[in-house]
Order: sequence, then C-alpha cells, then structure tokens
Amino acid sequence: MTSTTPQNLPFGSILTDVMAIASYKDGRWGEHSLRAVGPIEIHPAAHALHYGSECFEGFKAYRWADGSVHVFRMDRHIERLRQSARSLVLPEPDAAQVAEMVRAVVERCRDAVPEAPGALYLRPLLFGTMPNIGAASTPSNEVCLVVLASPVWDYFAGGAKPLRIYVEEEATRCASHLGVVKTGGNYAAALGPTLVARRLHQVDQVLFCPGGEVQETGAANFLLIRPGHIVTRSLDSTFLHGVTRDSLLRMAADQGYRVEERVFTIDEMLAWARDGEAALSGTAAVLAGVGTLVRKGGVEVKVGAGGVGPETQKLRAALVAIQQGRAADRYGWLTPV
Ligand code: PLP
Ligand code: COI
Repeated sequence: MTSTTPQNLPFGSILTDVMAIASYKDGRWGEHSLRAVGPIEIHPAAHALHYGSECFEGFKAYRWADGSVHVFRMDRHIERLRQSARSLVLPEPDAAQVAEMVRAVVERCRDAVPEAPGALYLRPLLFGTMPNIGAASTPSNEVCLVVLASPVWDYFAGGAKPLRIYVEEEATRCASHLGVVKTGGNYAAALGPTLVARRLHQVDQVLFCPGGEVQETGAANFLLIRPGHIVTRSLDSTFLHGVTRDSLLRMAADQGYRVEERVFTIDEMLAWARDGEAALSGTAAVLAGVGTLVRKGGVEVKVGAGGVGPETQKLRAALVAIQQGRAADRYGWLTPV
C-alpha cells in the first residue's frame, strides 16, 4: 500500500460522483434528482448560513463477500435525521423519500462501495435555504436535502492503534438541549477545545465531562468495558444517541453482558481504567479502543495496559461480522440495496 491508496485517504475526503438532491418550497417536497457531485447554488442570505438551520446523518453501506451491498440501520438513521429536523424546526422529509434517495445513490454508486474493511459512508444533509437575514427567530420555510456518498476506511488514522483522549472537565460540547441533535453547530462548538487539546496534548479526541459527568467525545459515544460488563451514559438530551452504541448494547446484552446505562463520573472512569477498558463507538469510529486518558495539566492515565483491550476487540469484531455479512443479522439491521 502506498500513501496514495484510498485506504490511506482521510475519512470523507473523497466522494462518489453522484448525489441525490431534493427541495422543499411552498409547503411541499419536490421529487429528488440525481446529479453529478459539485457546487450547488445557494443564496448568501440562506437561513442555514446565518442561523445554523442544518442537520445531517452518517451511516454505511457494506459490500459483502458475494458482491451484494447492504445498508446498516438505515431506518434508525433516517428517523434521527427527522428528529434533528424537528428540533431545528425544519420541514421534515418523509422517511420513505430519504430512503429512496439513499437507495438511488447507492445503486448508482454500487461500483464505488469498497470491499471490507472499507464501506460507503452515506451523508444525508438537510439545510434551510430561505433567503431572509432577518429570520433569526423564524424557521426556514425552504430547505434543501442532499445525499452524498464517500468510500471510507478507518476514521482514526492509525486504525487499530489505541486512542489518546483528553478529559475535558468543564466545557460542554454544545448547548445541553442540542446534544441529541446531529447539527453542524455542535461540531463547530467542539472544534476549538479539540484543537487546543490536540496541540497541547497530541490527543485524538476530547471527552466532554461537564460538571465531572462523562458524556461523549466530539464524534463518538463513550463506553467502559470489562468482561461481561458495559457501563455507558444513559440517554438524555445532552449527547447524541448513537446507533452504533444502541447496536453494541443490544448485541452485548444478548451475549450475556450486564449493560448499565447510567450517569457516571470522571472519578469512576479513572478507577475503571486501572484494570478495565474504554472505547469510542460510532459509525465512523466503529468501536475504537482508548489507551490513554489525558487530564488537565497533561497528567496521563493509562486505560488497562494502554492498548486496545480484548473485550473491545471482541465486541468490535462481532458487530463488524454482522455488518459485513459474515454473521447472521438476527436483528434485521441490514437493508439490501
Ligand atoms: N456522538 C457524536 C457527537 C457523533 O458525531 C457520532 C457519530 O455519528 C456519534 C456519537 C455516534 O453515533 P452513531 O453511532 O449513530 O454513528
Ligand atoms: C459518524 O460517525 O457518522 C460521524 O458523524 C462522525 C463524523 C463527524 C465524521
């Protein structure tokens, strides 16, 4: 493999050449069309550009060994997009319309779906296009829905390397009622603290723990793992309800793990780190082991032996086997396209 093979490209840096696009105007959604990926015209007064009325999703289509292509938990992701739209007071697209657009893109880009361990990352994007710079307290009554696709491999450069995570004890990732919404502003809000932590401590991500309670990182959920036991924060409005988190918890419970969803503190996490494991879960992250927690002032705490723990590897392998069609999909999570 050379430095120019697709596997080495940063996650999301290449797109397929086709996207689906639809718009909402005068109280109704129009039919979608398939277009070459490229710039689209957007009015500089568009609501999303000024007032952040934007949300998106991220999920993957997998190529199985027999060549067939399957999308993982598409319905759940589309439902989350609709929830995000509702929170931002954007017109909600029909679930059927989004699914049709996703299918249309995957069908047209079928040849671009990488073989395992790659996947085609699907990125529906919804944003307010109403041109009115006075509309700070008025929802956008015009929106655009786009579905992009990107052949992807590892999200974290280094693949199976254990992650270094900065434990942020004060700052929040975003406004506390918006954590559950997958909106661009949340990522913008986390960017500053993430860059500072990266520069000072060479970490991969920031784990937001406002008030000493562990929440999530800038782009993934956070799990404490031990043989037969998982602890993760219980669902509330402050963080994104990850579909990967949900999938792992269901699989683990069925395998006999005790799954505890509850609030836990930094102190408890540090005690767990003495002999337990920690990992990040997400569509992009899959299940990525945490090797080191870095605290304020640069104090480093190893998680277990500092590598990717065996339970983390086992759970990741079990999930990926379902996604890649090497284990039975007893949950009905995959949609063939
Ligand atoms: N939390 C944040 C902030 C994320 O960006 C993501 C990624 O989508 C997740 C959690 C994990 O969500 P999911 O497993 O649905 O991809
Ligand atoms: C995902 O896992 O789908 C994400 O949204 C992470 C990301 C910001 C690339």
